[in-house]
Amino acid sequence: MTAPTAGLPGAAEGPKHVALIMDGNGRWAQARGLPRAMGHREGVQALKRTVQAAPSFGVECLTVFGFSTENWRRPAEEVSDLMGLVRSYVASDLNRLAREGVRVRVLGRRTGLPADIAAIVDRAEAQTAHNSRFLLQVAFNYGGQADIVDAAQRHIDKILAGEATGPLDEAALSAGLSTAGGPPVDLIVRTSGEQRLSNFLLWEAAYAEMVFQNVLWPDYGAGPLGEAVEQYRNRDRRFGGLMPQPALATG
Ligand code: FPP
Repeated sequence: MTAPTAGLPGAAEGPKHVALIMDGNGRWAQARGLPRAMGHREGVQALKRTVQAAPSFGVECLTVFGFSTENWRRPAEEVSDLMGLVRSYVASDLNRLAREGVRVRVLGRRTGLPADIAAIVDRAEAQTAHNSRFLLQVAFNYGGQADIVDAAQRHIDKILAGEATGPLDEAALSAGLSTAGGPPVDLIVRTSGEQRLSNFLLWEAAYAEMVFQNVLWPDYGAGPLGEAVEQYRNRDRRFGGLMPQPALATG
């Protein structure tokens, strides 16, 4: 008999798509008596290290939580620091990412972004659109609930325009998410010891494995990523089905 999980990705071969909640920048800085902005700056270095290391673990896609729809509630100075980091990250790294075959895709709402950031996001996507070696998805002005609402609204708009008929189903909703067309999320990692999703990839998390690590994000890189991949490899993924059963002994 065919096992119910046949054809589904197993955990043993390692995650192809890892999503990262890069938490702990502020605490990393505070522990050193530094301003929080320094933690975010070091966080960018950790992001670069992690993107560099990911392919060596067989990872083909990273999705990182850069700025949530809720992060606008932080002090204006910190919001402005984070926007500044996007400007400098793209200015210093986009050409290299493009050369190395990385496709950059930005998830989340474009409306509400400062005009120059929206233009930078468009440029990063356009300049790397033809790449296929590695996919880097940056969730920016992103919230999982908002993304689901937007997807539902897109479907309603299509129905009103006569381009779709009801009812809304899982496939139609998925097609309207900002992650549409991307690979399924295998593993969600959150650093800093916190254990919650904080509105990240709510729909996509349905069957993802989760690993929570005690390392603060600015200390992240190949070592901790390797440990997360190892934990994933030891998981049993069942997708709501059953584990393949060993054949019954006969005779
Ligand atoms: C959480 O740490 C981290 C963030 C809110 C932002 C993550 C952003 C970066 C790593 C900067 C680079 C991003 C891009 C897209 C280039 P926290 O401030 O919540 O830390 P805390 O919980 O210790 O206060």
